[in-house]
Amino acid sequence: MNLDQYLQPRLQERRNQLRYRTRKLVESPQAALINVGGRQLVNFCSNDYLGLANNPALITAMKNAADNYGVGSGASHLVNGHSLEHHYLEEELAEFTGRERVLLFSTGYMANMGVINALTGKGDLVLEDKLNHASLIDGGLLTAADMQRFKHSDMAHLEQRLKNSTHKHKLIVTDGVFSMDGDLAKLGAMAELADANDSWLMVDDAHGIGCLGEKGAGTVDVFGMNQHQVPILIGTLGKAFGTFGAFVAGSETLIESLIQFSRTYIYTTALPPAVAAATRASLRLVREAGQQRTHLMQLVARFRESCLNLGLELMDSNTPIQPVMVGSDERALQMSQRLAQLGFWVSAIRPPTVPEGTARLRVTLTAQHTLKQVDQLVAALVSAKMEKG
Ligand SMILES: Cc1ncc(COP(=O)(O)O)c(C=O)c1O
Repeated sequence: MNLDQYLQPRLQERRNQLRYRTRKLVESPQAALINVGGRQLVNFCSNDYLGLANNPALITAMKNAADNYGVGSGASHLVNGHSLEHHYLEEELAEFTGRERVLLFSTGYMANMGVINALTGKGDLVLEDKLNHASLIDGGLLTAADMQRFKHSDMAHLEQRLKNSTHKHKLIVTDGVFSMDGDLAKLGAMAELADANDSWLMVDDAHGIGCLGEKGAGTVDVFGMNQHQVPILIGTLGKAFGTFGAFVAGSETLIESLIQFSRTYIYTTALPPAVAAATRASLRLVREAGQQRTHLMQLVARFRESCLNLGLELMDSNTPIQPVMVGSDERALQMSQRLAQLGFWVSAIRPPTVPEGTARLRVTLTAQHTLKQVDQLVAALVSAKMEKG
């Protein structure tokens, strides 16, 4: 059997399951209004929570850095790809997160894989929330350590797993804001369990950093968690920061260890310096974006109140991730397509990204939306729900 003969039935099976994924061509920058496939839609599926991806200050910083450094970084950080822009960004992010030191990674996916694998090995245990992001789960699958999952945010289950363990080292791993549900991890309880059971806590705050906390310092700030309580903090830069890449924040010793042992850090080309420069500009704006964060939370409150009044089923989230639960894959797809006809882009999230029977419309709000756009979306959701498939 040649390769295509093997692959074609797999693709057909995906189609039959209504889980076939396609990409839509975007013809404009990220914004509340976005051009896609020749039409303008109100964009409710971007992670550009603060609307920085097309901000003029970031664009200027990137252009200037491209003039000074060129486009490519040329090599990995450990060869000759580590530029001054990377260095300054790491220092500024360390100050922002209140951690001793920061290390930039090329993506969040790589950071998560690389950190879990650098810190754990044979004889150790990695404990992950069932709803953790794929990159954390894959990091756990790749390590030679045992990997166990605990029920979503179920602290009794986590404690039981910790107590039953006779492993040498234990790493507890969680999203800060769960990416498909929008709820917050119980960081206070997790930090206490970690402390009581001689374990380390790793938090991936991809969707919290920039959005949550007075200055945007994320979920750990909301819970007041310091470096001792959360020794391994991951942030991504492609969401609220509006650029690209990721970072790990923690102790000097943690960062030095990752530089020595993290394969996804060592064996990959460094981010372009111009991306680091744009992110430095972004960080300045993130710190000052109190008004945008307040507006975003007003949008969240308005969306939730209107949906709940009109009988739409939401999840237990007070973050800009506001999934509308649908259940069947087919219905979620139909509703997403109907919303597009009505002028709104909301993606249907289906298994295996979410558990079976929990397909949903993942609405994300950004600071660039208006209350009116949110009201219009809710009206469109209600109308899409009423229509028969
Ligand atoms: C919780 C979480 N962690 C990590 C990632 C991966 O980050 P990146 O896009 O930078 O690879 C994502 C999504 O992209 C995410 O939602």
